[in-house]
Amino acid sequence: MPPTTRTSSFLAACRGEAHDTVPVWFMRQAGRSLPEYREIRSRHGFEEVVHTPELAAEVTLQPVRRYGVDAAILFSDIVTPVASLGIGLEIRPGVGPVVDEPFRRPADLDRLRDLEPDEDLPYVLETVRILVRELDVPLIGFAGAPFTVASYLIEGGPSKTYDRTKALMFSDEATWHRLMERLAGITLASLRAQVANGASAVQLFDSWAGALTPSDYERYVQPHSRRVLTELADAGVPRIHFGVGTGELLGLMADAGADVVGVDWRVPLDDARTRIPEGVGTQGNLDAAAVLAPWEVVEARVRDVLRRSGGRPDHVFNLGHGVLPATDPDVLARVVDQVHREGRTDGTVADG
Ligand code: CP3
Repeated sequence: MPPTTRTSSFLAACRGEAHDTVPVWFMRQAGRSLPEYREIRSRHGFEEVVHTPELAAEVTLQPVRRYGVDAAILFSDIVTPVASLGIGLEIRPGVGPVVDEPFRRPADLDRLRDLEPDEDLPYVLETVRILVRELDVPLIGFAGAPFTVASYLIEGGPSKTYDRTKALMFSDEATWHRLMERLAGITLASLRAQVANGASAVQLFDSWAGALTPSDYERYVQPHSRRVLTELADAGVPRIHFGVGTGELLGLMADAGADVVGVDWRVPLDDARTRIPEGVGTQGNLDAAAVLAPWEVVEARVRDVLRRSGGRPDHVFNLGHGVLPATDPDVLARVVDQVHREGRTDGTVADG
């Protein structure tokens, strides 16, 4: 283990262990708003970058150099593992993942075989190995949670309402659970392989789980995310569990087996804290749009998140969702400096 991994404030915060300065990184920190990313993308397609370890590693490193964040996140996508199985999925710039023939019938389950990471995702694992050599901060590996990946397969692309996903869930529960079991197996295999190759933490993105009621989440989704998170426990790395619009699900997402729960911008952090059991940390939750405001406004909002984190050593500063394309990189750099300057922990965590 590199010495930096032992002394990382990010890993300490994920584990609720004593450290001095609040760690910070940004979801979607790689790409989009960075001119150096756009420059690479002007010459290479998105999928080409993901499939070329030297390029994917470079794009992962860009925000670490520019912002001085306390963690890097692997450059890839939540649909990369299922796409590697040849199911007819592509990522369209400006749109997101699109599936030629969406999954709607029981027979579609046969299109998903088990993932063999060494054979199916060698480029992702090589990117991880390059990064672990180059980075002096921890690398976060990640995967899409079964529900969020299922939503792309069933809807055929991005959705606002997830009608078809819910229709399958409510009308054919057996097929739903079989699909979720397959996706959980793929998710788990991908995360295990990233950790085996050197990732120091993992984030499970259930970005769209907030579309569900708590009881539907508990019945149709939580068992599968729980399987992924609990089976990863023996990998020994912190597990972050994130979703958007999940204010009503925070307790259930913690209970699924997370070390840290992502909080979006809708719930004030101190309020979110009361919904998450002791022993589980928080990550978030500055409104990603707040950084588009004049600096005085940004500064006050950053300070407010820090104040609401209460000096606890189990908080990781982040946005409530990903960096927006219009974000000025210089503002994010200033946010990192401010969090490092003002974000002090009191070194203790309440007994859970
Ligand atoms: O910086 C990072 O966070 C690392 C890389 C990363 C990407 N996608 C790169 C990407 C990560 C962690 C993701 C996760 C992801 N992908 C999620 C979960 C995070 C979230 O926002 O909730 C989701 C839902 C997806 C699916 C997806 N892929 C979407 C919605 C899009 C955006 C379409 C667009 O262009 O706005 C993508 C494509 C994608 N993934 C891009 C990037 C940098 C843009 C592609 C490009 O460069 O043209």
